[in-house]
Amino acid sequence: MEIVILPSSAEIATAAADVVARVVTEHERPVLGLATGSSPLPVYGELIRRHREEGLSFAHADAFLLDEYVGLPAGHPESYREVIRRELTGQIDIDDARVHGPDGAASDVKGAAAAYDAAIAAAGGVDVQLLGIGTDGHVAFNEPGSSLRSRTRVKTLTEQTRADNARFFDSVDDVPWHVLTQGLGTISEARHLLLVAAGAGKADAVAAMVEGPVAAFCPASVLQLHPHVTVLLDEAAGSKLRLADYYRHTFAHKPAWQAL
Ligand code: GLP
Repeated sequence: MEIVILPSSAEIATAAADVVARVVTEHERPVLGLATGSSPLPVYGELIRRHREEGLSFAHADAFLLDEYVGLPAGHPESYREVIRRELTGQIDIDDARVHGPDGAASDVKGAAAAYDAAIAAAGGVDVQLLGIGTDGHVAFNEPGSSLRSRTRVKTLTEQTRADNARFFDSVDDVPWHVLTQGLGTISEARHLLLVAAGAGKADAVAAMVEGPVAAFCPASVLQLHPHVTVLLDEAAGSKLRLADYYRHTFAHKPAWQAL
């Protein structure tokens, strides 16, 4: 895992956008893994800026979302398919038909889950997967207790996650209980995992993910098993890391030829 502690969200956005832009420009058919939540928003803002001002094109890319609420009707403004359209994909030149998400409105959710894993594989797998982290250590919607090898499936949200996400709905009662989420095994198949986190509220989860044991209790700790992980943090999110000075030293002395 490469842990990079940066002064602010703006630097995190630039570093993450550099990684995504490299994939998009170097690959013939790039496959991007997109995340919702507030953490990736500065990254998306930077990608939109590069598209508008520097001609960065996503026209040849496919994108796969991490997760979706179950039971929200298609087109619901808080469905993740709509959120990503609003926050990113509707503002760049990616083909809307090539932006995929688990079908949380399907009558056969189990079938939809299996179809989603198959679609990712058929696209050749994800080149770079953007991730955030929940306050309880969840990634995508893999709550504590999730199998570290899980596939896309239905999960039940914790009360904590429903409370965290209530800000997007009129009230916490409107937050669905169930979701369809890529599993930790599915996510781990992406070739590069790029996790962004900012703010003191994420400090405990980040410390558990990076320096705690690999355990289903902290689903994000599965990243320790992946060969190519970049964790971009601001000072507050990295404030509970015991080896923070070492991570800073390592990044400051990173060989010039070695990209993130
Ligand atoms: C949701 C999403 C996750 C996201 C998490 C944290 O639960 N399913 O993908 O990482 O929220 O969100 P935020 O970045 O807004 O703190």
